[in-house]
Amino acid sequence: MGVRITFATAEFAPLVSVGGLAAASAGLVSALRANGVDVDVMIPDYGPDVFSAAAHDWVEIGDAIEVDVPQWAGPASIRRVDHRVAGLVHLVATPGLVRSHPYLQPDGDGWRDNSERFLRFSRAVAAWANAHRPDIVHLNDWHTAAAAAATDPDLAVVLSLHNAAFHGATTGEWCTQIGPRGNHYEWWGGTNPLTGGIALADAVVAVSPTHADEIRRPDGGFGLDELLRARGAAVSGIINGIDIEVWNPADDARIAAGFTADDLSGKDICRADVLTELGWPDDAMLAVAVSRLTPQKGLDLIVDIAHLLGDIGIRLVILGAGGRSEEQALCAAAEQHPHHLAVRIGYNETLAHRLFAAGDLLVMPSRFEPCGLAQLQAMRYGTVPVATAVGGLVDTVVDLDAHPRTGTGIVAASASAVDLVSALHRATRRLGDRRRLANVQRRIMRRDVSWAEPAQQYIEMYQRIAR
Ligand code: ADP
Ligand code: GLC
Repeated sequence: MGVRITFATAEFAPLVSVGGLAAASAGLVSALRANGVDVDVMIPDYGPDVFSAAAHDWVEIGDAIEVDVPQWAGPASIRRVDHRVAGLVHLVATPGLVRSHPYLQPDGDGWRDNSERFLRFSRAVAAWANAHRPDIVHLNDWHTAAAAAATDPDLAVVLSLHNAAFHGATTGEWCTQIGPRGNHYEWWGGTNPLTGGIALADAVVAVSPTHADEIRRPDGGFGLDELLRARGAAVSGIINGIDIEVWNPADDARIAAGFTADDLSGKDICRADVLTELGWPDDAMLAVAVSRLTPQKGLDLIVDIAHLLGDIGIRLVILGAGGRSEEQALCAAAEQHPHHLAVRIGYNETLAHRLFAAGDLLVMPSRFEPCGLAQLQAMRYGTVPVATAVGGLVDTVVDLDAHPRTGTGIVAASASAVDLVSALHRATRRLGDRRRLANVQRRIMRRDVSWAEPAQQYIEMYQRIAR
């Protein structure tokens, strides 16, 4: 039996990307489709500002389809587009979705009505699913989790938790509006999309096995640990993959030269290309970071240790975007230490590819990390991760000092300045010699970081819970 899925998400690469949710959604869907799974992708119709680039790469199919939703959520309609890379996508229009950015006002704060915007979107997703009767309704994060309040109870629901730190909670009266099972969303007098989704889903999936354990503990559950423990075996963890066609160092038009595990000479060219652009000599290890700049990612620690980078023997270039204060603090540190720290602000996919290709090391000192894609992208391009022992980083980065023959990176004990400095020292000691570095680079490039295996695990889960 072929499985039919309605897959709802707030981000989908390359149409709309803010963080890893976009790449993870698109990567999983593409792997599922390659396995013959029939997937209806539902994303919010954010309108022309957000889709200005994507719209060049899609054609609209047929007329808009009206969706039958209660008055508070409508009018709702869906246009279907066939995107050159992403394939068929359903753009769901409900009031309030069209903005300049999916979540953020121009000043960097969230839109005040974010919860309500996505409650309406979620209601339209439920209406679509109830009408089309898929085997599985697959929801992702809080933006879509309220759909479970209104999906028919005989439809199986999966909720993926990409980032359980965000709940999307709003005022209490919404519980009665959002659907017949809205009472499951009551939370401390408010309405919490995530708690209801967790309570109602047939399967709750964290994006790595270690993070599935962490969120069931009081210190790692963002207030949801008790609820998650109560769901017992319904909670599991499946690691993300990356799209190995998009991330392919042998054939990547964005980088200065292609390379493979067998022939790393192209990587030297990519490295020289970036060093030249930064005006840096080739006399230290080149570390890179590509990340949202939020407290989760721990890159604020770099501000505290920037003055030590020279002594450690590292030059670091950071590409990131996020909170104003994080951006400003890092830029100020780079101005003070221009020979060892460079910061580029913005979301820039081309530069991201160039940095992963150029780097000797990736710096990823996350305070928590549900999965993390940057370390997988880095490894695919032979850039050795220096990462904290949290979440998906535990499942993908094995310490080279503890496991010299099988290690894949350097593990920092915690997201603190002291532990990060000590991990960077260990990295230069173990990998400063370029022949030893090349051995590890070849090893990490040969790892399977594709969606092949994770997609199989999702398909088995779908088959287990489909009714
Ligand atoms: P998160 O989802 O928490 O932001 P991940 O590591 O899972 O972290 O995914 C981040 C994704 O976004 C990766 O694909 C990474 O390459 C990309 N990315 C992050 N910041 C930038 C940026 N400033 N420019 C381009 N790509 C970025
Ligand atoms: C979230 C997490 C990140 C994860 C991504 C995709 O944004 O922060 O760790 O890799 O989602 O699942």
